[in-house]
Amino acid sequence: MSSQTPYKVLCVCLGNICRSPTAEVVLRHYCDKQQLNIVIDSAGTSNYHPGKAPDLRSQKYALKRGYDLSALRARQLSTQDFIDFDLILAMDHENLFNIQALLAQAQAEYAGSQIRAKIALMSEYDQTYLKQALPDPYYGGEDGFKRVLDQCESSSLAWVSVFKQQFQQQFKQQIDVK
Ligand code: 4NP
Repeated sequence: MSSQTPYKVLCVCLGNICRSPTAEVVLRHYCDKQQLNIVIDSAGTSNYHPGKAPDLRSQKYALKRGYDLSALRARQLSTQDFIDFDLILAMDHENLFNIQALLAQAQAEYAGSQIRAKIALMSEYDQTYLKQALPDPYYGGEDGFKRVLDQCESSSLAWVSVFKQQFQQQFKQQIDVK
């Protein structure tokens, strides 16, 4: 990507200690690999675990695949995020519903023009898990945590190809104007 202003993506789940921190680090890994100028963060729709590090099980299974989640800390999604981010990715359909509800609050709070975030599912363009939920692993066993990693890797690859197409189109438009 040629623009100096990074594109900003926020990954969102319920607690911000299992799925969205995993999505944040995996998506960052694939974006960095393609040298895309994208900033990635994560948040939770709930305020269950503010300031907490990712769940130790998420950390353990992520590290086995080379992803270090240890520096991340949970925070709650806020109306300001709809101004600060270009894209908000929901891990499941309940997250999507709650993000859309907060968007309505943000629209009431701020002038509409300030809001720039688009909202989509993490699996929006993932042909393997198309528009499927990223299941919450919190109350389950190790398979759930491995599945989160599998889906995050698959969906991140799909997003990277969407971002590359978007950036190529933007770049072409800039050239056409000149
Ligand atoms: P996450 O998982 O939304 O993937 O971070 C959860 C973490 C904590 C809880 C629920 C889901 N909880 O109920 O505390």
